[in-house]
Amino acid sequence: MNEENMSYSTHDTLHQQTPSIGHGQAHSKIILMGEHAVVYGVPAIALPFTAASTKVIVQKNNHSVSYFESEYFTGTAAEMPDEMNNLKQVIQLTLDSFALPKEPLHYKVTSNIPVKRGMGSSAAVSVALVRAITDYYQVHLSDYQLKMIVNQAEIIAHETTSGIDTLMASSHRPVMYQKSEPPVPFDINLKAFLIVADSGIEGQTKIAVGKVRQLYEQRPSMVKDALKSIERFVKLGYQAIKQQDTNELGRLLTYNHYYLNQLGISDPKLDHIIRAAWYAGALGAKLTGGGLGGCAIALAETQTIAQTIADAMKQAGAQNTWILNLAMNEEEN
Ligand code: MEV
Repeated sequence: MNEENMSYSTHDTLHQQTPSIGHGQAHSKIILMGEHAVVYGVPAIALPFTAASTKVIVQKNNHSVSYFESEYFTGTAAEMPDEMNNLKQVIQLTLDSFALPKEPLHYKVTSNIPVKRGMGSSAAVSVALVRAITDYYQVHLSDYQLKMIVNQAEIIAHETTSGIDTLMASSHRPVMYQKSEPPVPFDINLKAFLIVADSGIEGQTKIAVGKVRQLYEQRPSMVKDALKSIERFVKLGYQAIKQQDTNELGRLLTYNHYYLNQLGISDPKLDHIIRAAWYAGALGAKLTGGGLGGCAIALAETQTIAQTIADAMKQAGAQNTWILNLAMNEEEN
């Protein structure tokens, strides 16, 4: 199969009998360090966040048109609002790429990934959709095909994308990621806990990415310096993880936040939540993901301190918090 060619299969190769239901699944992600800079080729470190995930079910629709069911919108596929153009595109590209029949289908999305919080919800729903459609038609889907389809949809959702959200929606290991380079999966085994706090404010990745680009055009040397600093912190952060130096990693998270702030993508409420984490004893804290709202993360030495920090972040306005044990890479609530 020629992977450069987006048409991967023909109708003839489909199994005679499709199963009655196609299933697709994907999860959320947390960017530990390097968001935004990753769009400009700087490496970033991200973790899978399986506590927040999405499931898609595809089945035949007994009416004449396709139907889309989700918490955000339920109605005919033709009526899907413009905000869902990325998902429309995912469906279209998947059907076209595999030369699948255009028959009425029922798409049902269930997700507990908070939307617009920089947790990669759009990429996760897209990944789960492609998987469910290809599962329904029993066509083989390679990682490359999945990435090509979802990244095109992510460009609609975020305008510019490094591809990190698409990758992490189906990655089960932490990854050091650099645009256009093969991702480097690795293990995190730290005697530390990561607190994830949802500010409850809808983040706006598309606007945030545009804001950084505009700043780059207006003040290129300032932004280049910030990107260089972030690159250094990410590389040192990767070393700190390898050397199990949690104090150093915490400091680097905070430095990274300082430069994200310089890039203008933090938010007063988010900063308030991050400050609360610092005062409550975090080794470091920063925003994560797109910014302008969304989520913050903080690093703690013990589970007790992590709980104190999570409580302080809630007190400061966070709507929801999760605690990840970095020794085992598991989530606890
Ligand atoms: C969004 O989760 C991460 C950003 O760096 C955008 C991207 O990498 O595509 C802000």
